[in-house]
Amino acid sequence: MLEAEKMARNIGFDPANTIRIKTTVSELGRNILKYAEKGFVSLSHLVDGKKEGIGIEVIDKGPGIENIELAISDSYSTGGTLGLGLPGVKRMMDKFEIESIPGSGTRVYVVKWK
Ligand SMILES: Nc1ncnc2c1ncn2[C@@H]1O[C@H](COP(=O)(O)OP(=O)(O)OP(=O)(O)O)[C@@H](O)[C@H]1O
Ligand SMILES: [Mg+2]
Repeated sequence: MLEAEKMARNIGFDPANTIRIKTTVSELGRNILKYAEKGFVSLSHLVDGKKEGIGIEVIDKGPGIENIELAISDSYSTGGTLGLGLPGVKRMMDKFEIESIPGSGTRVYVVKWK
């Protein structure tokens, strides 16, 4: 079982949100493999008062993204696929941060609260 799915279940996410979390990790992971070749994913169990959630940080040292606004818009792809990965992740998560330096790499950090 994917680590993300295991952590989501342990935190007590419902099945629908567990799938959103699993899909997020797989979309961001696929982007690394496709555009940057390697990178890393780190998951954290967040606790803020009575709120619990999961943080997902994905970092690579690939080519970076020239135009972030374009990259997170529906149907934009330089890879010849659907171009729905990043906008889909943005919609599924409660917090979505992306920073990228062309020629240097990309960092995406998202949070889902239970
Ligand atoms: N880690 C990354 N490094 C460099 N460019 C990236 C990275 N992730 C995304 N991109 C750029 O942003 C675009 C949009 O990404 P997104 O995941 O939304 O779509 P896609 O990967 O092209 O298609 P899909 O995810 O639907 O198969 C990509 O086509 C690529 O140009
Ligand atoms: Mg993608």
